[in-house]
Amino acid sequence: MPYQPMPFSLTTERLNLQLWQAADATGYRELVGERGDELPTLDEARDEVREARASAPGRGIHCMTLRLHGDDEFLGYCGLVIGRATIEEPEIAYELLRRAHGNGYATEAASAIVDAARATGRTRLWSTVRAWNTPSFRVLEKIGFRRDHTTSDEKGDIVWNVLDL
Ligand SMILES: CC(C)(COP(=O)(O)OP(=O)(O)OC[C@H]1O[C@@H](n2cnc3c(N)ncnc32)[C@H](O)[C@@H]1OP(=O)(O)O)[C@@H](O)C(=O)NCCC(=O)NCCS
Repeated sequence: MPYQPMPFSLTTERLNLQLWQAADATGYRELVGERGDELPTLDEARDEVREARASAPGRGIHCMTLRLHGDDEFLGYCGLVIGRATIEEPEIAYELLRRAHGNGYATEAASAIVDAARATGRTRLWSTVRAWNTPSFRVLEKIGFRRDHTTSDEKGDIVWNVLDL
């Protein structure tokens, strides 16, 4: 692969970003529940978390869990995914538990992920956001993304946001 791999941990002013661990399965389940999606069993959640961790080295991009320094509470995750885009120009992704919203954590983590993406040698990132998701657009705006174009699927409009690194 022509890109450097992303690091497996990052530190920001307030947050530690690290690879998923089996113990994050509970927090992951809670996130899925808050999305309103069908809840995985704890075993299924553990498998997903293990798979996310195991696939990271081969792919070179991944998501990382978010925790405050000195605190073990799982807050959510942020990272790079192929998503609707490509390995060369991946998507930035973030999802936090509701109780962690509104503290600037997504912006802080996403900003560190943008720096890490630049350090891999990539030149462009995308983020696809449902048209109603104002908080997500605001995070993207704060870290320098601009709206590029809109596509749609059976659930409605998807706005493609881009950042040239
Ligand atoms: C999107 C998400 C990660 C943002 O997390 P967060 O840590 O609360 O984000 P931040 O605090 O860094 O920034 C949120 C910004 O949106 C603004 N915001 C939040 N709700 C808003 C609303 N209803 N209308 C306008 N602005 C809003 C906040 O005021 C803040 O902007 P500011 O710093 O200018 O005040 C969080 O809402 C989330 O996990 N949502 C569910 C998952 C999701 O939608 N992920 C993205 C998929 S594309």
